[in-house]
Amino acid sequence: MAKKIVDFRECQAETIKAYDAKRVLLVGQGRSGKPNVMTIGWGSLGIIWKKPIFTIYVRPSRYTYSLIKESGEFTVNVLPPGMEEVAKYCGSTSGRDVDKFEAKGLTPVPSTQLKTPIIKECIIHFECRIIYQNPLVTEELAKPILTGIYGDSTDFHRIFCGEIIACEADRP
Ligand SMILES: Cc1cc2nc3c(=O)[nH]c(=O)nc-3n(C[C@H](O)[C@H](O)[C@H](O)COP(=O)(O)O)c2cc1C
Repeated sequence: MAKKIVDFRECQAETIKAYDAKRVLLVGQGRSGKPNVMTIGWGSLGIIWKKPIFTIYVRPSRYTYSLIKESGEFTVNVLPPGMEEVAKYCGSTSGRDVDKFEAKGLTPVPSTQLKTPIIKECIIHFECRIIYQNPLVTEELAKPILTGIYGDSTDFHRIFCGEIIACEADRP
């Protein structure tokens, strides 16, 4: 199967389903030039500011957080069904301690527009350049969510809106 450039709308439904199945990976690469991958469970994609936008929510404690802050870009990659174990691993170990690409046999391959790579073994890829980011304004968040999701934690997600510069998918 070859990776072909497609309209991001073609991949919207499959990507949302992949979130439910815990098969979505975020890749960040900072100044060191070494990519890192982590699992994401929250996100949305659609048109904002007349642009195709992928919005992700990343806690400052994640190693990937510092990488995407450094570079101003990220890629989102959807694993095929059957590779859920990879997402479980990438969502429970940190790139500070281990090279997750190596540990799980994932292959970083050049994206079409960014310095940050995509993951060869995945089936859908979004190349995103950050055009807006903001910390969570906790005073504005509904109280049941604040207490229910964060409890005593102050590791509040930062919201990153990435313009989708390119979308690729495996196609015959
Ligand atoms: C299913 C699943 C979804 C997750 N979603 C997110 C998310 O949306 N944002 C986030 O900050 N962390 C999320 N995490 C936690 C990170 O993936 C996890 O802390 C990871 O080890 C961070 O890796 P890093 O330190 O290499 O960046 C999720 C974990 C799992 C298992």
